[in-house]
Amino acid sequence: MGEVTKIVIGNATLYHGDCLDILPTLSPVSLVVTDPPYLLEQGGMTNAEMSGKFDTRVYDNKGAIVDTPIGWPEIMPAIFRAMETGHAYVMCNNRHVAAALAAAAKSGFRFHNLLVWDKITATPNRWYMKNCEFTCFLFKGKAKYINDCGSQQLVRVPNILNAPHPTQKPVELMKSYIKNSSQVGDVVLDPFMGSGTTGVAALILGRQFIGIEKDKKYFDMACERVENATRQKDLFSLGLEGLPGLSSEREGVG
Ligand SMILES: C[S@@+](CC[C@H](N)C(=O)[O-])C[C@H]1O[C@@H](n2cnc3c(N)ncnc32)[C@H](O)[C@@H]1O
Repeated sequence: MGEVTKIVIGNATLYHGDCLDILPTLSPVSLVVTDPPYLLEQGGMTNAEMSGKFDTRVYDNKGAIVDTPIGWPEIMPAIFRAMETGHAYVMCNNRHVAAALAAAAKSGFRFHNLLVWDKITATPNRWYMKNCEFTCFLFKGKAKYINDCGSQQLVRVPNILNAPHPTQKPVELMKSYIKNSSQVGDVVLDPFMGSGTTGVAALILGRQFIGIEKDKKYFDMACERVENATRQKDLFSLGLEGLPGLSSEREGVG
């Protein structure tokens, strides 16, 4: 096993290390919400025409915008084994849906739905501009209804532009998944937490959180965001939220 650091912040336990090493040491959970690393390719478009995080000065178009040493055949069974029974939300893009679902089925997961995140802003593409990402909504054990059966397959949440993590997801998106598949006090696990967005969403909703991140830079970001969310939640319950100088990251506490 590689080196592992564990930090507890309020209702969150954060691990710096490789999730393939850490997951087998944890007690099984009943909800996973995660956005694993996968290769990002531009599908034939020369990235000379791209801007932002795909600009040739910051990205070589080899696909690895974040560390991606493992693929779906390792990711899906590791998530499956970390669960007791319950729901798993596993994000990916259009090019990865088939491989992710095939690996999920092979691991023992059953399929509930393919959820769509409409990011509102689109990236240029000559074969339809891209404004969506996908979430494999899976389950282990007995099928269980979501909390709000009026929820639709597609959710519209603006993408975060110029976030510190290159593939940072919106807190509101992660909140929608957590709200539907857990109760206050339940544990939410994200084995690929990046900057800790799932953790922020879980804490805002009064859940416990376990997060794992391999890259120290992103792990430190996650610790800071989780600390801020914990402080905001504490202030909110004391009725002090909103006092000048008391909150540093506003992510919609409620
Ligand atoms: C797509 S990003 C997640 C971003 C996150 N949703 C956010 O909002 O910040 C995937 C993360 O998994 C991390 N990662 C890659 N391999 C890992 C591993 N074996 N164990 C733990 N983390 C890993 C990467 O460093 C990256 O930050």
